[in-house]
Amino acid sequence: MKAVRIHDYGEADALVYEDAPIPEAPPDGVLIKVRAAGVNPVDWKIRKGLMRAMRPLQFPAIMGSDIAGTVALTGPLVTRLKEGDHVIARVDGAYAEFAAAKTDAVAPAPTSIPLSHAAGIPIAAGTAWTVLFDSANVRAGQKVLIQGGSGGVGIFAVQLAKLAGAHVIATTSGPNVAMVKSLGADEVVDYRAVDVASAVKDADLVVDCVGGETLKRSFGLLRKGGLLITIVSPPEEALAKEYGVSARFERGNMNGIRLQEISGLIDAGKLKVVIEKELPLAEAKAAHELSESGRARGKIILRVA
Ligand SMILES: NC(=O)c1ccc[n+]([C@@H]2O[C@H](COP(=O)([O-])OP(=O)(O)OC[C@H]3O[C@@H](n4cnc5c(N)ncnc54)[C@H](OP(=O)(O)O)[C@@H]3O)[C@@H](O)[C@H]2O)c1
Repeated sequence: MKAVRIHDYGEADALVYEDAPIPEAPPDGVLIKVRAAGVNPVDWKIRKGLMRAMRPLQFPAIMGSDIAGTVALTGPLVTRLKEGDHVIARVDGAYAEFAAAKTDAVAPAPTSIPLSHAAGIPIAAGTAWTVLFDSANVRAGQKVLIQGGSGGVGIFAVQLAKLAGAHVIATTSGPNVAMVKSLGADEVVDYRAVDVASAVKDADLVVDCVGGETLKRSFGLLRKGGLLITIVSPPEEALAKEYGVSARFERGNMNGIRLQEISGLIDAGKLKVVIEKELPLAEAKAAHELSESGRARGKIILRVA
């Protein structure tokens, strides 16, 4: 099969479109014919070796984690899925014509959007869900700020917080302001044009999808006793103390049950996937460069078949 692999850590040039063996489905898993792979910032972080302590690779390694596709083969222990099912999953090795997954990582793909767009769901929507519902237990009436409302995770976080009944404020810039408003945000702050600290005060919850200085400045936007959750890097405990807030780092959980709920919300017309760009698999390098620019608005998709 064709796949995009790396043979060592490196820049986007390290991505090689080449032949690779088809993976084997585990007895309690499936082989999926990939229609499209979603691109996430973690993909280029892995490629560069920035995640090697947590996610060490064996080379050559197929890149990518998010897929949408069709079940091609089922393992002998599988009863819940059958050949031909349209599915989404988080896998190891997404940028390829075939990917293997355990059944508990697999969910039905939404039927109301193109299958290729569904590849944008697993990591981004699964992480937004984890942060808002598992970790923050977001409730109706809370003032919630999403830092980076136009990014892959942000687009889902804005919509899910709104579905929970929160008053949702999001930061983004320029032409992305209108897009994030269209996702239901009550207020959108253009962080390039306005000082966010003067526009947002006393938030109950800040979800930081940006990191760096934005993360540091997020502490001062919360009410006393408020909660800051960042998905980028561990926050400084000293700052949390200084501002009288709680702060923590969270990692997304994208199991099949979670993904099935998300597919259901999409088919119910309550959640949208925003696509920045679809590119052929062979153009993974351009996709990584775009993701690494930090300017993607919604999800980047690699079309496989
Ligand atoms: N912990 C986890 O499990 C987990 C899971 C998923 C992602 N992540 C991490 O979370 C981060 C976000 O991921 P993502 O997929 O959402 O990224 P992304 O799609 O690359 O985010 C790009 C978006 O961020 C916006 N942005 C950039 N700087 C901003 C700023 N200073 N203020 C507000 N918005 C800003 C950009 O809008 P403008 O162009 O208008 O600036 C752009 O639309 C990445 O670091 C990723 O690795 C972690």
